[in-house]
Amino acid sequence: MSPTTPMSEMSEMTMFTAPAPLPVEPPSGCPFDPPAAFAALRTTQPISKISLPDGSWAWLVTRYADIRTILGDTRFSSDTTVHGYPLSGMTGGPSTRNRGFIRMDPPEHTRLRRMVTREFMVKRVEALRPEIQRITEELCDAMERAEGRTQGGVDLVQALALPVPSLVISLLLGVPYEDHDLFQGLTGTLLSRTVPDDEREAARAELRDYLDRLVTAKEADPGDDILGRLIVEQQRTGELTLPQALNSVRAEGTPIDVAAFAALLLIAGHETTANMISLSALTLMRDPATAEKLRQEPALIRGAVEELLRFHSIIRNGPRRAATADVEVDGHLIRAGEGVVVAVPSGNRDESVFADADRLDVCRPNAQHHVAFGYGIHQCLGQALARVELQVVLGTLLRRFPAMRPAVPVEEIPFRTDMSIYGCHALPVTW
Ligand code: HEM
Repeated sequence: MSPTTPMSEMSEMTMFTAPAPLPVEPPSGCPFDPPAAFAALRTTQPISKISLPDGSWAWLVTRYADIRTILGDTRFSSDTTVHGYPLSGMTGGPSTRNRGFIRMDPPEHTRLRRMVTREFMVKRVEALRPEIQRITEELCDAMERAEGRTQGGVDLVQALALPVPSLVISLLLGVPYEDHDLFQGLTGTLLSRTVPDDEREAARAELRDYLDRLVTAKEADPGDDILGRLIVEQQRTGELTLPQALNSVRAEGTPIDVAAFAALLLIAGHETTANMISLSALTLMRDPATAEKLRQEPALIRGAVEELLRFHSIIRNGPRRAATADVEVDGHLIRAGEGVVVAVPSGNRDESVFADADRLDVCRPNAQHHVAFGYGIHQCLGQALARVELQVVLGTLLRRFPAMRPAVPVEEIPFRTDMSIYGCHALPVTW
């Protein structure tokens, strides 16, 4: 397409191209690489039409610069109820009724995000580092004692990658960790791309019931945690409603209750980091030279975590937006009411920004410019927490288990090609 082609003609030309399905195919060759189609699209059709599972279509955006333009422009809505929002094939988020602020636009998004911003600020999170270290050391002690090591391997996902972020977010929110089997199981179903819709809806309802009951129980004794503070500072002042299931009349007044915060933070707070931990640990096991470099110079771990976030980009088929106005992006017209799927894994492998982008380089000078945490007003609220958890867990694993290696060939590791957050379902390791 010539750069001088008039806009109207360009849109029409694209309209007549049969849309290809959203590239989600399991990575071939290297299990860490995003779908191969992205690299070609960045060169030939950086904003292309794709078909979604229900037969609808959306724009797929693959270049780094365009991704930042779209995520930084509030004319692209995060509200799943806005006309044209590409919901098909999407999993995980809280339902459209009483949904979390990740699926809202300003001014409501701004008001609600502000209620919890200070809880996740760098200074607050850094103060948690010793506690995160303590939790990690304890889990590593248990791993050392585990018999599985000599009997087919210990599953690093269950032994460490999942419990660390899950324990930490439970502690911060004030959710009893004893219930982790329940909420981990339910969030797993919510994030699966293969379970039938009715099963996913049932899991969503069960998680909401559990959190409604929890918030109701906490009202008598709110406690010094995020949910407790939300009850005291926001629910009791009328900024948030009472648990929806118990008080549907008042629930109509304001759009969200404490349990909706809990659902968003609980889901976002453990599944994401857990998968980054297991993928990163596996990457370092397969790259002994890099692992040794990090053991020799532990201060490199901060930069290494940024590079691992860039390299893995675990949010595989989003974020998503709906255009609320006609917007021109890099000479391409996106009309009001059209959906957009932003391919973060593609942006993070864009050679025009990251030289030799398919190579993991833990000393890459601009790794922190990745878009793995998104960009713009919805940029990940929990990024400081995720960073500290990753630095602590990976640093501790390298120090305490220098001989750790996968207990099965890489082809036998069950990668999460069926989930909207990429990673490993299980990672058997030995040492
Ligand atoms: C490595 C781990 C993580 C990754 C890769 C990640 C990725 C992302 C991305 C890409 C977004 C933007 C979504 C959008 O633009 O629509 C986001 C938003 C968000 N994340 Fe994370 N996340 C991680 C960990 C966490 C943790 C630990 C929390 C803890 C609470 C968290 C809470 C949130 C919340 C609340 C939002 C919504 C922000 C808003 O809409 O204003 N995330 N995350």
